[in-house]
Amino acid sequence: MVLNNSPITSHNSLSAKTILAIETSCDETAVAILRGTELLASEVASQTQHQAYGGVVPEVASRNHLVHAPRLLAEARRKAGIALTDIDAFAATSGPGLASSLMIGASIAKGLAMGTGKPYLAINHLEGHLLSPFFGSDEIEPNVSLIVSGGHTLLVEVRGVNEYRILGRTVDDAAGEAFDKVAKLLELGYPGGPEIERRAREGNAACFDFPRSMLDSGDHNFSFSGLKTAVRYRLAEFSAEKKTPQLINDFCASFQRAVVDVLVKKTVRAAKDCRATLVTISGGVSCNEALRKEMAEKTRAVGLRLLTAPPRLCTDNAAMIAFAASLRLRAGQCSQVVEEIDPNLALV
Ligand code: KG4
Ligand code: ZN
Repeated sequence: MVLNNSPITSHNSLSAKTILAIETSCDETAVAILRGTELLASEVASQTQHQAYGGVVPEVASRNHLVHAPRLLAEARRKAGIALTDIDAFAATSGPGLASSLMIGASIAKGLAMGTGKPYLAINHLEGHLLSPFFGSDEIEPNVSLIVSGGHTLLVEVRGVNEYRILGRTVDDAAGEAFDKVAKLLELGYPGGPEIERRAREGNAACFDFPRSMLDSGDHNFSFSGLKTAVRYRLAEFSAEKKTPQLINDFCASFQRAVVDVLVKKTVRAAKDCRATLVTISGGVSCNEALRKEMAEKTRAVGLRLLTAPPRLCTDNAAMIAFAASLRLRAGQCSQVVEEIDPNLALV
């Protein structure tokens, strides 16, 4: 288990409601307390147990949420220096994600809301990612948003909170899923993204010319499963002795270059089609420095602005859920405590 808990503070211009949010959609247990735009606490426990299986095991994840959540709740309250009675609303991720994991965070937040007589807000995990680049500000500017996580690759036209139009999505694997599956092929462990990025720095991105699927498809959709298969076939051409650390680095660099190329070109094209002036990127894969750098260069070259969240707000965390909840609460919205979790919850 890894704890990541440095606070992020900013000006406090949202009406200073205090929100406690819980995120348990997959294998991260996270609790955050946000007052206005000031993040008082953000606790994340990443479950490293799944590394042994090369992917997330749902029952292991939900059992771990039960272990970590009470401890993180206590720690977040201690760091924020507030009592439960100081909280104005409780929020939790209600989907999409693993049913047995979502249920834990949502049940805790509902229980706390009922026990204290405060509102409950069910928040869409994807909306949490989507809004995260604006964390700390009290206004969501219109933008074209690329969400790239382990479960999703979405291009969204954003006009404001809850004003979303899906432009494109992956037709098979998500970008993060491709990183994880290719890392598994290369025997680099789980999650694969950070390790592939690390190895790619030492590799030659021009070594293998991997496919850029759907680059010129004429729509805004993505496909990454052909790329993963191409890596598998190319890797099979090398005997065990030839699979040197340098060769693996070259595989990582060439694979990462192909993913970044497609993500950046298709995002810039979508932004132009929508006549957008601002591009945002979010989700775990948006931690990737090669993606950030290329996106920054290519957006700048065509006069687009780019907004990204700090890396600790890109991977799963509860601060983004609290932020989305704060914007919805400010708009007078809250949820019924009988609202169910939905593992397949769509953004729109
Ligand atoms: O947003 P996230 O934490 O969880 C989901 O909502 O899925 O994203 C996790 C994904 C994983 O697939 C992980 O491999 C990928 O984000 N990821 C990265 C990097 N850091 C995390 N992919 C590429 N480069 C990274 N530095
Ligand atoms: Zn996520």
